[in-house]
Amino acid sequence: MRSQKIPTKENLKLSNEIDKLRVPKHIAIIMDGNGRWAIRKGLPRSFGHNKGVSVLKNIIKVSKNLDCKVLTVYAFSTENWTRPSKEVDFLINLFEKVLKKEISEIHQESIKIKFIGDLSPFPKALKSIISSSEALTENNKNFILNICVNYGGRQEIVQAAKEIAIKSSSGEIKPSDIDEQLFNSELLTHGIKDPELLIRTSGEKRISNFLLWQLAYSEIYITDVMWPDFNEIEFLKAIIDYQSRDRRFGGIQSLQNESCEDSNYSS
Ligand code: IPE
Ligand code: IPE
Ligand code: MG
Repeated sequence: MRSQKIPTKENLKLSNEIDKLRVPKHIAIIMDGNGRWAIRKGLPRSFGHNKGVSVLKNIIKVSKNLDCKVLTVYAFSTENWTRPSKEVDFLINLFEKVLKKEISEIHQESIKIKFIGDLSPFPKALKSIISSSEALTENNKNFILNICVNYGGRQEIVQAAKEIAIKSSSGEIKPSDIDEQLFNSELLTHGIKDPELLIRTSGEKRISNFLLWQLAYSEIYITDVMWPDFNEIEFLKAIIDYQSRDRRFGGIQSLQNESCEDSNYSS
């Protein structure tokens, strides 16, 4: 994460195009395309997953430099268990190996790491390194890295509904207390503002059960680049594209406000 790279001409050009004051503070990424990237090169899918890890390390570094504060990445979905067990086992081992190798540097960089999802089916060794890593980095202030593993947006919403039902039937809350804020507080991402930008690599135009609640008004950027080929240039392009969007949140463009004067609406 600390290696100093000499910026290329294209990096410099794109860096200059970015409005440093309007970089999204929270970016979510569906890191997709590892398997296809490897197969196209005549390699086993596992090579794509390995390469994907080094891409993530680089994107964390770039995000920090841009003063983005939170990255939430999709590493393993609740549906990914349906893959051949060899691939699932490989991924579980990879998570453990990478975390062991990287945690001291993550901590030195003052990154707070958090795993989001149902960790219960994972092996003891992985659960243990996850909980020690979270505890070690708990008070780090520079950056938050959320890694979604065995994560599913629908499951998260159902779980939140269950918690609320329990609190309601025990009398801790009244049904009339249930609002968006309370619901949000039961989600696994509670305390973190919703992502302004979602990036999906590999060209697929779907959300695949990722952050269904939190992405309600995120800008979506889809690139055909496979995750193992994703890099600083592609990341800067996504942010520049984001900065060209008009985020209306159901309203109208601010410049059009004047055409809304009362006189224009009176019959
Ligand atoms: C994303 O890449 C990583 C995980 C889902 C773990 P894929 O493994 O889905 O790669 P493709 O989409 O099959 O190419
Ligand atoms: C989404 O990718 C999950 C992760 C990136 C971890 P998938 O490859 O599992 O999604 P689908 O199957 O293309 O929708
Ligand atoms: Mg995929």
